[in-house]
Amino acid sequence: MSSTVTGQHTPTALIIGASRGLGHAMAAEFLGRGWNVIGTVRDASARTPLHDLADRADGRVTIEHLDIDEPNHLAPLHERLAQRQLDLLFVNAGTTNNEQTPIGAVPTADFVEVMITNALSPMRVIEALEDLVSPTGLIGAMSSGQGSITNNTTAGREVYRGSKAALNMFMRSFASRQAETQRAFVLMAPGWIRTALGGPDAPFTIEESVPLLVDVLLSKLGMPGLAYLDRSGQTVPW
Ligand SMILES: NC(=O)c1ccc[n+]([C@@H]2O[C@H](COP(=O)([O-])OP(=O)(O)OC[C@H]3O[C@@H](n4cnc5c(N)ncnc54)[C@H](OP(=O)(O)O)[C@@H]3O)[C@@H](O)[C@H]2O)c1
Repeated sequence: MSSTVTGQHTPTALIIGASRGLGHAMAAEFLGRGWNVIGTVRDASARTPLHDLADRADGRVTIEHLDIDEPNHLAPLHERLAQRQLDLLFVNAGTTNNEQTPIGAVPTADFVEVMITNALSPMRVIEALEDLVSPTGLIGAMSSGQGSITNNTTAGREVYRGSKAALNMFMRSFASRQAETQRAFVLMAPGWIRTALGGPDAPFTIEESVPLLVDVLLSKLGMPGLAYLDRSGQTVPW
């Protein structure tokens, strides 16, 4: 799919956590397909790859500031975006911790940090901003194959897995509350990708992965209901 822009309507994507890694690459990919992009960065004072993208984008990339773990950032962000209609809202931001520690040995502070950032905060963002999304738009979040309970036969990354499983559950509740709408809801399992979070041993590059993720999201636009999908568009078992 080279572009989704048809007729006069230029669609807009809001990508939460677009400073670097997968979020930045998604912003670039949507821009390349003719979309307008609003991307958020956590640190309002830092220069990021998203700023470089915006410099080359002829005004089609807007940078906003949001730390998803700061609930008091959400109302001002909503106010700043009140005149924009979103075709796609995607929460990419996420984190991990020391992945080898078995769950019983994980310090409470590490557990709380990962669970808040990966499970609670994305849903706060979605619930705070969802009214900006078109009635036929898409609301998504970056989950992980590690969030599949069914597929967890190897352990490891225990808090991270739990946080993404929790995100899946919360998104399922949110989508159930919107069951009568025409909106699409997507939990994305992107595969193991070489980023700061994915590490150097991951088998996939950002460059080969992100066009596939965007293809999957675009294929779900206009398809009501919740899906938990991998990079090929295949359903991941809960
Ligand atoms: N890479 C993989 O193999 C893989 C696999 C499955 C799922 N995922 C998921 O994909 C998403 C992106 O990961 P990545 O691999 O691109 O990692 P990354 O390169 O470490 O990027 C993480 C992104 O999340 C942002 N972020 C983290 N905490 C935030 C907060 N409190 N508020 C706002 N932004 C915050 C970071 O912003 P800053 O620049 O400000 O830190 C950064 O933009 C995550 O949800 C991750 O769990 C990744």
